[in-house]
Amino acid sequence: MKTSISSGYAELSKAVAQNVIDCVKAKPDALICIAGGDTPLGVFAALVEAQNQGRVDFSRTQFLGLDEWLGLGLADKGSCREMVWHHFFDKLTLREEQICFFDGLTHDPQAECKRVDGYIEKHGPIDCIVLGIGMNGHIGFNEPGASLENTCHVIDLDPVTQTVSVKYFGTPREVKQGISLGLKTILASKKIVLMASGEKKAAIVAQTVNHPTSVEIPSTLVKTVPQANLFVDKAAASAL
Ligand code: GLP
Repeated sequence: MKTSISSGYAELSKAVAQNVIDCVKAKPDALICIAGGDTPLGVFAALVEAQNQGRVDFSRTQFLGLDEWLGLGLADKGSCREMVWHHFFDKLTLREEQICFFDGLTHDPQAECKRVDGYIEKHGPIDCIVLGIGMNGHIGFNEPGASLENTCHVIDLDPVTQTVSVKYFGTPREVKQGISLGLKTILASKKIVLMASGEKKAAIVAQTVNHPTSVEIPSTLVKTVPQANLFVDKAAASAL
């Protein structure tokens, strides 16, 4: 896995955005999957700017949401959908049929998994996926110990993830489960960009790079994919 170290978050975000732009230029109807969470917010801004400056055309691109907290929807501040919508989809000129996102408010999570799996079967495999790294090494909501055979599925969230979730919601919320693309689907992506920023991610970034590949640290599995790159800023690279 090639590692690119940027001087700071702005440069990191631009570098990751350029990977998405290159993918869409090569294949205008590409399927792009981008994580929610804090890490890609700068990438969203860079991609919106690129669209506004005419440097990329998303009119034929398909966008897929990576994961969602079960029980939360667009109206819930800090949900994956709310963050991606607010910072990205809403600022692009997209048609509804260009977006597929988990409905965290579904009363039938299994049917929701089937729906998203069906969408991926139709439009996939994913051409480019931008992943954040959880504090415990999760990618999407594939927590430590996740199965390599999983496609879309419901997950009992790790205590680390439940604790970290407070940063998104402002107030503590009962989030016990997530719904996510599985490792099988993620690792079948044609291009994987694993992204991390800030000193708080330095330890898990070092583990991702140095630890043998293991489902106990899902981010290490990305190393098994030839077309995978790690993009970090100096702070996140400080323990390498
Ligand atoms: C969150 C999300 C992931 C995200 C990861 C890192 O829980 N489920 O999609 O990539 O954990 O989040 P952050 O970028 O906020 O550190």
